Amino acid sequence: MIRKCLFPAAGYGTRFLPATKAMPKEMLPVLTKPLIQYGVEEALTAGLDTMAIVTGRGKRSIEDHFDISYELEHQIKGTSKEHYLTEIRDVITRCTFSYTRQVEMKGLGHAILSGQTLIGNEPFAVLLADDLCDNTCEQGSVLSQMVKLYEKYQCSIVAIEEVPKEETFKYGVIAGDEIEEDIFQVTNMVEKPEPKDAPSNYAIIGRYILTPDIFDIIENTEPGRGGEIQITDALLTQAKQGKVIAYKFKGQRFDCGSVEGFVRATNYFYNK
Ligand code: G1P
Repeated sequence: MIRKCLFPAAGYGTRFLPATKAMPKEMLPVLTKPLIQYGVEEALTAGLDTMAIVTGRGKRSIEDHFDISYELEHQIKGTSKEHYLTEIRDVITRCTFSYTRQVEMKGLGHAILSGQTLIGNEPFAVLLADDLCDNTCEQGSVLSQMVKLYEKYQCSIVAIEEVPKEETFKYGVIAGDEIEEDIFQVTNMVEKPEPKDAPSNYAIIGRYILTPDIFDIIENTEPGRGGEIQITDALLTQAKQGKVIAYKFKGQRFDCGSVEGFVRATNYFYNK
Protein backbone atom coordinates (compact mmCIF):
# COMPACT_ATOMS: atom_id res chain seq x y z
CA MET A 1 0.00 0.00 0.00
CA ILE A 2 1.25 3.49 -0.78
CA ARG A 3 1.00 6.03 2.03
CA LYS A 4 3.67 8.59 1.30
CA CYS A 5 4.08 11.27 -1.30
CA LEU A 6 7.41 12.99 -1.91
CA PHE A 7 7.46 16.56 -3.18
CA PRO A 8 10.79 17.74 -4.58
CA ALA A 9 10.53 21.46 -3.87
CA ALA A 10 14.06 22.79 -3.72
CA GLY A 11 14.37 24.27 -7.22
CA TYR A 12 15.00 27.96 -7.80
CA GLY A 13 12.12 28.74 -10.14
CA THR A 14 14.31 30.96 -12.28
CA ARG A 15 11.71 31.20 -15.03
CA PHE A 16 9.49 33.13 -12.62
CA LEU A 17 12.04 35.68 -11.45
CA PRO A 18 11.66 38.20 -9.95
CA ALA A 19 8.52 36.68 -8.35
CA THR A 20 10.54 33.75 -7.03
CA LYS A 21 13.43 35.79 -5.67
CA ALA A 22 12.23 35.64 -2.07
CA MET A 23 9.31 33.26 -2.48
CA PRO A 24 9.26 29.55 -3.39
CA LYS A 25 7.87 28.80 -6.84
CA GLU A 26 5.71 26.12 -5.21
CA MET A 27 3.85 28.91 -3.40
CA LEU A 28 2.83 30.71 -6.60
CA PRO A 29 -0.97 30.69 -6.61
CA VAL A 30 -3.25 29.56 -9.38
CA LEU A 31 -6.25 31.69 -8.43
CA THR A 32 -6.00 31.69 -4.62
CA LYS A 33 -4.28 28.37 -3.99
CA PRO A 34 -0.54 27.70 -4.06
CA LEU A 35 0.68 25.07 -6.52
CA ILE A 36 1.92 22.81 -3.74
CA GLN A 37 -1.49 22.75 -2.07
CA TYR A 38 -3.03 21.47 -5.30
CA GLY A 39 -0.39 18.75 -5.21
CA VAL A 40 -1.09 17.80 -1.58
CA GLU A 41 -4.82 17.69 -2.29
CA GLU A 42 -4.16 15.41 -5.25
CA ALA A 43 -2.12 13.08 -3.03
CA LEU A 44 -5.01 13.00 -0.54
CA THR A 45 -7.45 12.01 -3.27
CA ALA A 46 -5.19 9.02 -3.91
CA GLY A 47 -5.35 7.97 -0.25
CA LEU A 48 -1.85 9.20 0.62
CA ASP A 49 -1.72 11.04 3.92
CA THR A 50 1.98 11.39 4.63
CA MET A 51 3.66 14.23 2.77
CA ALA A 52 7.44 14.29 2.56
CA ILE A 53 8.72 17.59 1.25
CA VAL A 54 12.27 18.12 0.05
CA THR A 55 12.94 21.82 0.39
CA GLY A 56 15.95 24.08 0.21
CA ARG A 57 17.07 27.47 1.33
CA GLY A 58 14.38 30.15 1.17
CA LYS A 59 11.46 27.71 1.29
CA ARG A 60 10.25 28.16 4.84
CA SER A 61 6.91 29.61 3.81
CA ILE A 62 5.93 26.12 2.59
CA GLU A 63 6.19 24.84 6.17
CA ASP A 64 4.25 27.81 7.49
CA HIS A 65 1.54 27.28 4.89
CA PHE A 66 0.86 23.76 6.15
CA ASP A 67 0.70 24.84 9.77
CA ILE A 68 -1.79 26.73 11.90
CA SER A 69 -1.42 30.49 11.99
CA TYR A 70 -2.82 31.29 15.42
CA GLU A 71 -2.84 35.00 14.76
CA LEU A 72 -4.85 34.56 11.58
CA GLU A 73 -7.21 32.06 13.21
CA HIS A 74 -7.80 34.54 16.03
CA GLN A 75 -8.47 37.40 13.60
CA ILE A 76 -10.79 35.53 11.30
CA LYS A 77 -12.73 33.17 13.61
CA GLY A 78 -16.44 33.89 13.60
CA THR A 79 -16.19 36.45 10.77
CA SER A 80 -17.68 36.21 7.28
CA LYS A 81 -14.18 35.48 5.94
CA GLU A 82 -13.63 32.31 7.91
CA HIS A 83 -14.67 30.11 4.99
CA TYR A 84 -11.51 31.13 3.10
CA LEU A 85 -9.60 28.90 5.49
CA THR A 86 -11.81 25.82 5.09
CA GLU A 87 -9.73 23.99 2.49
CA ILE A 88 -6.33 24.54 4.04
CA ARG A 89 -7.62 23.63 7.52
CA ASP A 90 -8.97 20.42 6.04
CA VAL A 91 -5.61 19.58 4.45
CA ILE A 92 -3.74 20.23 7.69
CA THR A 93 -5.99 17.96 9.72
CA ARG A 94 -6.02 15.12 7.20
CA CYS A 95 -2.30 14.62 6.67
CA THR A 96 1.12 14.91 8.23
CA PHE A 97 4.12 16.74 6.83
CA SER A 98 7.79 16.14 7.21
CA TYR A 99 10.64 18.07 5.67
CA THR A 100 14.23 17.68 4.75
CA ARG A 101 16.56 19.94 2.82
CA GLN A 102 18.39 19.23 -0.37
CA VAL A 103 21.62 20.99 0.42
CA GLU A 104 23.08 21.00 -3.09
CA MET A 105 21.09 21.23 -6.31
CA LYS A 106 22.26 18.13 -8.13
CA GLY A 107 19.12 17.20 -10.05
CA LEU A 108 15.74 15.56 -9.58
CA GLY A 109 17.24 12.13 -8.89
CA HIS A 110 19.40 13.64 -6.17
CA ALA A 111 16.39 15.50 -4.71
CA ILE A 112 14.48 12.21 -4.49
CA LEU A 113 17.47 10.53 -2.86
CA SER A 114 17.56 13.36 -0.30
CA GLY A 115 14.02 12.34 0.65
CA GLN A 116 14.99 8.75 1.46
CA THR A 117 15.22 9.59 5.13
CA LEU A 118 11.52 10.57 5.10
CA ILE A 119 10.34 7.62 2.99
CA GLY A 120 12.22 4.62 4.31
CA ASN A 121 11.75 1.22 2.73
CA GLU A 122 8.31 1.37 1.11
CA PRO A 123 6.86 2.28 -2.29
CA PHE A 124 5.97 5.94 -2.60
CA ALA A 125 4.64 8.55 -4.98
CA VAL A 126 6.54 11.57 -6.30
CA LEU A 127 4.63 14.67 -7.31
CA LEU A 128 6.20 17.67 -9.04
CA ALA A 129 3.94 20.53 -8.05
CA ASP A 130 4.65 22.61 -11.14
CA ASP A 131 2.89 19.98 -13.22
CA LEU A 132 -0.62 20.94 -12.18
CA CYS A 133 -3.38 18.44 -12.91
CA ASP A 134 -7.10 18.93 -12.84
CA ASN A 135 -8.20 16.26 -10.41
CA THR A 136 -11.90 16.39 -11.17
CA CYS A 137 -11.66 13.90 -14.05
CA GLU A 138 -14.25 11.13 -14.08
CA GLN A 139 -11.54 8.48 -13.58
CA GLY A 140 -10.18 10.29 -10.53
CA SER A 141 -6.99 12.28 -10.04
CA VAL A 142 -3.86 11.30 -11.94
CA LEU A 143 -2.19 10.00 -8.79
CA SER A 144 -5.23 7.96 -7.77
CA GLN A 145 -5.29 6.37 -11.23
CA MET A 146 -1.63 5.45 -10.76
CA VAL A 147 -2.09 4.08 -7.24
CA LYS A 148 -4.81 1.76 -8.57
CA LEU A 149 -2.42 0.62 -11.27
CA TYR A 150 0.28 -0.06 -8.69
CA GLU A 151 -2.04 -2.48 -6.90
CA LYS A 152 -2.03 -4.57 -10.07
CA TYR A 153 1.55 -4.20 -11.33
CA GLN A 154 3.56 -3.63 -8.10
CA CYS A 155 6.38 -1.84 -9.91
CA SER A 156 7.52 1.70 -10.65
CA ILE A 157 5.12 3.75 -12.77
CA VAL A 158 5.58 6.99 -14.70
CA ALA A 159 2.73 9.10 -16.03
CA ILE A 160 3.06 10.01 -19.70
CA GLU A 161 1.46 12.37 -22.15
CA GLU A 162 1.88 12.75 -25.89
CA VAL A 163 3.68 15.98 -26.76
CA PRO A 164 4.58 17.52 -30.12
CA LYS A 165 7.85 15.95 -31.26
CA GLU A 166 9.64 19.33 -31.23
CA GLU A 167 9.05 19.57 -27.46
CA THR A 168 10.76 16.34 -26.40
CA PHE A 169 13.82 18.33 -25.24
CA LYS A 170 11.78 19.51 -22.23
CA TYR A 171 10.93 16.07 -20.85
CA GLY A 172 12.01 12.57 -20.02
CA VAL A 173 10.81 10.49 -22.97
CA ILE A 174 10.00 6.77 -22.99
CA ALA A 175 9.80 3.93 -25.46
CA GLY A 176 7.71 0.91 -24.63
CA ASP A 177 5.39 -1.90 -25.67
CA GLU A 178 1.70 -1.40 -25.09
CA ILE A 179 0.58 -4.24 -22.82
CA GLU A 180 -2.91 -2.93 -22.13
CA GLU A 181 -4.76 0.07 -23.43
CA ASP A 182 -2.70 3.16 -22.42
CA ILE A 183 -0.23 1.07 -20.39
CA PHE A 184 3.30 0.47 -21.66
CA GLN A 185 6.10 -1.78 -20.52
CA VAL A 186 9.01 0.64 -20.65
CA THR A 187 11.99 -0.50 -22.71
CA ASN A 188 13.92 2.76 -22.96
CA MET A 189 13.88 6.23 -21.48
CA VAL A 190 15.94 9.30 -22.29
CA GLU A 191 16.13 12.58 -20.38
CA LYS A 192 15.35 15.63 -22.52
CA PRO A 193 16.33 14.27 -25.95
CA GLU A 194 16.53 16.44 -29.03
CA PRO A 195 13.53 15.59 -31.27
CA LYS A 196 15.75 13.65 -33.68
CA ASP A 197 17.01 11.43 -30.83
CA ALA A 198 13.68 10.98 -29.02
CA PRO A 199 12.51 7.35 -28.85
CA SER A 200 8.86 8.50 -29.10
CA ASN A 201 6.74 11.52 -28.27
CA TYR A 202 5.55 10.07 -24.95
CA ALA A 203 6.77 12.55 -22.35
CA ILE A 204 6.99 11.85 -18.64
CA ILE A 205 5.04 14.29 -16.53
CA GLY A 206 5.64 14.98 -12.86
CA ARG A 207 3.85 11.99 -11.34
CA TYR A 208 5.75 8.86 -10.39
CA ILE A 209 5.30 5.81 -8.25
CA LEU A 210 8.64 4.39 -7.22
CA THR A 211 9.65 1.21 -5.48
CA PRO A 212 12.22 1.80 -2.73
CA ASP A 213 15.05 -0.04 -4.50
CA ILE A 214 15.26 3.17 -6.55
CA PHE A 215 17.31 4.79 -3.77
CA ASP A 216 20.26 2.40 -4.16
CA ILE A 217 19.98 2.74 -7.91
CA ILE A 218 20.10 6.55 -7.72
CA GLU A 219 23.17 6.31 -5.52
CA ASN A 220 24.86 4.37 -8.29
CA THR A 221 23.62 6.57 -11.13
CA GLU A 222 26.18 8.85 -12.76
CA PRO A 223 25.26 12.46 -13.52
CA GLY A 224 23.52 12.66 -16.88
CA ARG A 225 21.80 15.44 -18.82
CA GLY A 226 22.98 18.87 -17.61
CA GLY A 227 25.52 17.22 -15.28
CA GLU A 228 22.65 16.35 -12.91
CA ILE A 229 21.58 13.05 -11.37
CA GLN A 230 18.44 12.24 -13.30
CA ILE A 231 15.55 10.13 -12.04
CA THR A 232 14.96 9.15 -15.68
CA ASP A 233 18.39 7.48 -15.80
CA ALA A 234 17.80 5.63 -12.51
CA LEU A 235 14.42 4.45 -13.78
CA LEU A 236 16.06 3.15 -16.95
CA THR A 237 18.01 0.71 -14.76
CA GLN A 238 14.71 -0.57 -13.34
CA ALA A 239 13.14 -0.59 -16.81
CA LYS A 240 15.91 -2.86 -18.11
CA GLN A 241 14.83 -5.33 -15.41
CA GLY A 242 11.26 -5.10 -16.74
CA LYS A 243 10.13 -3.16 -13.67
CA VAL A 244 8.75 0.12 -15.04
CA ILE A 245 5.45 0.82 -16.70
CA ALA A 246 4.28 4.05 -18.27
CA TYR A 247 0.69 5.11 -18.02
CA LYS A 248 -1.07 7.48 -20.39
CA PHE A 249 -3.22 9.14 -17.77
CA LYS A 250 -6.73 10.50 -18.19
CA GLY A 251 -7.14 14.16 -17.46
CA GLN A 252 -5.72 17.57 -18.00
CA ARG A 253 -2.23 18.73 -17.04
CA PHE A 254 -0.64 22.17 -17.12
CA ASP A 255 3.04 22.96 -17.20
CA CYS A 256 3.11 25.59 -14.49
CA GLY A 257 6.89 25.64 -14.66
CA SER A 258 6.47 27.94 -17.66
CA VAL A 259 4.75 31.31 -17.66
CA GLU A 260 2.58 30.31 -20.61
CA GLY A 261 1.39 27.09 -18.95
CA PHE A 262 0.78 28.96 -15.73
CA VAL A 263 -1.45 31.49 -17.48
CA ARG A 264 -3.32 28.69 -19.24
CA ALA A 265 -3.90 26.93 -15.91
CA THR A 266 -5.11 30.15 -14.32
CA ASN A 267 -7.63 30.76 -17.11
CA TYR A 268 -8.76 27.14 -17.05
CA PHE A 269 -9.40 27.05 -13.31
CA TYR A 270 -10.97 30.50 -13.37
CA ASN A 271 -13.43 29.46 -16.07
CA LYS A 272 -14.28 26.35 -14.09
C1 G1P B 1 11.65 16.75 -14.73
C2 G1P B 1 12.18 15.40 -15.20
C3 G1P B 1 11.67 15.07 -16.59
C4 G1P B 1 10.15 15.16 -16.60
C5 G1P B 1 9.68 16.53 -16.09
C6 G1P B 1 8.19 16.57 -15.93
O1 G1P B 1 12.24 17.76 -15.53
O2 G1P B 1 13.59 15.42 -15.17
O3 G1P B 1 12.08 13.79 -16.96
O4 G1P B 1 9.68 14.95 -17.93
O5 G1P B 1 10.24 16.81 -14.80
O6 G1P B 1 7.75 17.85 -15.59
P1 G1P B 1 12.19 19.33 -15.12
O7 G1P B 1 10.89 19.85 -15.65
O8 G1P B 1 12.28 19.38 -13.62
O9 G1P B 1 13.37 19.93 -15.80
